[in-house]
Amino acid sequence: MKFDTPADINPIDQLRVVGRATDRIDGRFKVTGTAPYAYERHDVVQNPAYGFVVGAAIGKGRIASVDLRAAEASAGVLAVVTADNAGKLAKAGRNTAKLLAGPDVDHYHQAVAMVVAETFEQARDAAEKVKVDYVAQGGRFDLAEARADAPLAGSGYWGEAATSVGDFQGVFSAAPVQLDATYTTPDQGHAMMEPHATTARWDGDKLTIWTSTQMVAWDAGDIAKTLNIKRENVRVVSPYIGGGFGGKLFLRADALLAALGAKAAGRPVKVALTRPLMFNNTTHRPATIQRIRIGAARDGRIEAIGHESWSGDQPDGQPETAVNQTRLLYSGSHRMTAMRLATLDLPEGNSMRAPGEAPGMMALEIAMDEMAEKLGLDPVEFRRRNDTQVDPEDPSRPFSQRQLVQCLGIGAERFGWNKRKRPGQAREGRWLVGLGMAAAFRNNLVTPSGARVRLDARGIVTVETDMTDIGTGSYTIIAQTAAEMMGLPLDQVAVSLGDSDFPVSSGSGGQWGGNSSTAGVYAACVKLREAVARKLGVPHEAARFTEGFVEADGKRASLASLAADGDIEAEDKMEYGDLAKKYQQSTFGAHFVEVAVDSATYEIRIRRMLAVCAAGRILNPKSARSQVIGAMTMGAGAALMEELVVDKRFGFFVNHDLASYEVPVHADIPHQEVIFLDETDPTSSPMKAKGIAELGICGVAAAVANAVYNATGVRIRDYPVTLDKLM
Ligand code: MOS
Repeated sequence: MKFDTPADINPIDQLRVVGRATDRIDGRFKVTGTAPYAYERHDVVQNPAYGFVVGAAIGKGRIASVDLRAAEASAGVLAVVTADNAGKLAKAGRNTAKLLAGPDVDHYHQAVAMVVAETFEQARDAAEKVKVDYVAQGGRFDLAEARADAPLAGSGYWGEAATSVGDFQGVFSAAPVQLDATYTTPDQGHAMMEPHATTARWDGDKLTIWTSTQMVAWDAGDIAKTLNIKRENVRVVSPYIGGGFGGKLFLRADALLAALGAKAAGRPVKVALTRPLMFNNTTHRPATIQRIRIGAARDGRIEAIGHESWSGDQPDGQPETAVNQTRLLYSGSHRMTAMRLATLDLPEGNSMRAPGEAPGMMALEIAMDEMAEKLGLDPVEFRRRNDTQVDPEDPSRPFSQRQLVQCLGIGAERFGWNKRKRPGQAREGRWLVGLGMAAAFRNNLVTPSGARVRLDARGIVTVETDMTDIGTGSYTIIAQTAAEMMGLPLDQVAVSLGDSDFPVSSGSGGQWGGNSSTAGVYAACVKLREAVARKLGVPHEAARFTEGFVEADGKRASLASLAADGDIEAEDKMEYGDLAKKYQQSTFGAHFVEVAVDSATYEIRIRRMLAVCAAGRILNPKSARSQVIGAMTMGAGAALMEELVVDKRFGFFVNHDLASYEVPVHADIPHQEVIFLDETDPTSSPMKAKGIAELGICGVAAAVANAVYNATGVRIRDYPVTLDKLM
């Protein structure tokens, strides 16, 4: 099915099942320990051996020699995989061949070997005995230093590296009120609960990997290409995933090495990256340096806005697209953005929840707070005055929906924004109290997605798609969609996800998965409705599906009875025309935060958080709320705690465990509230939904930083906002 005109009224609009707060149907399996994760596939894989990955001990250089004798002689060892014996690995994706180092070492903790043994302990013990001699070279590990000669990033999925409208330089210099400030955001790790993990088994030349991935089809394609085997000989299975945040978008070392190890050992092999390996072996959100210039008239209208960002990555890498939102969020006739990319020898930089916008909003929304103060305007009012209903770089493109001003207004009222005092003026005993806010913005992406649906004689509809549920609630919204389309209660729908034998879906990433994957299920169900109507002998346009029955033209039958003599199956894929080019599809929100700062120790406590979101139809308000409060929590971590500390001499992230890479715990987050505006976006898909999970993090950290400023009068432009910076 092709979606190329705005959606009409359709069965989803009935909202009998879709749009209702619904418990996660996978929840019980997860909390009772019966959901099988990639490392625990005892149900399907007998007698696996264990792989233990050895990470490179240098940040840049090469391997001079590897001595495996002691490791190979160690108890229980079945095989040791290195670049010398792995066969030729081909480049797929962002160079998957580099998942195994040798002879070059591109970054610290890049895999240099994997030991396979009978038990985990034996593999770990033997891994200690792998002797690698390195020739270390000086690497480039310091973004601040590399920034000086960093070139423009080139174009990519983010569009052009630089944009320019009007005369930014001239108008900015002449503007009556000006801000020119530089902000920094640190490297951050995904730190998801479940590590990267894979169980691999070869049956002849066929490879099955049970793995933890957000993108089943990408993994299947990339592992086939990397190992030079046929795509049809690879099966990837990933039904349950303990968090991803973008760190599991791509094939990683666990999957590749499990496949190589299983081949070498002649046995199924399972591999989990240890927590200390994850931060340097896999990907991370790259640090940024961002310069923002805003020039405004005295009435608060922005005349010129410029945003430049510097980030670093491995050779052939990509920029952190931190200027994305500035291209679209506020009005102003004279504009410029630019992304510069330094080559660094740190681990690969790549997507982490709201890549680009999350760190971009961390900077832009402090800049807006600073500018409002210079103008003597309330920060909510300043944003309101600079709303735009069209793409400010291309005014011929309207936003499909844009309720930023509504989010700001509702949030201000619900949060008691009018109680905000001047900086440093609100005191409760020893606590300095502050309120802060920020806009939220994240683009909405939609990608093709397929599904298969099957009605059986029990009247149950089974949905099959390679879509993943990374803790987001995909199972539930997919079941809700099929139930709505087929006129069934939720418990008459079964959902099977995360298997490359199923139709290719959008996968989970970029907050595109919810809307895109359900739209694919919608398309398959349209076909199933047609097939069911045909079976009843009525025109499908007239058929009504309710409570397990279909009826039209005086005929009526249960779905079960129509499938009595054989399953009725349908498969389709939702594809998209250029609606997303004609209309700028984005999601909007507002974050409000109250903090208290200890006047003696400068300890910062968040007291209250509120998010107001406008993100199309909310398919399941319960799981959507969970996504947003999770994102707000992650934003609080970005504001106050998270920072991968770079050892600039040797080139690695020092704090590579969860003891020293701090993320918020329950005690850090006392009260959160989420409000969804009633919105449907007919240009996004027949679901009229958009993404929510990444919108929820965008702007949060700036709202916290702005609240800290309001409490203390100290402006911190360098994340995380830790107490030492306030002193
Ligand atoms: Mo998202 S960072 O694209 O999983």
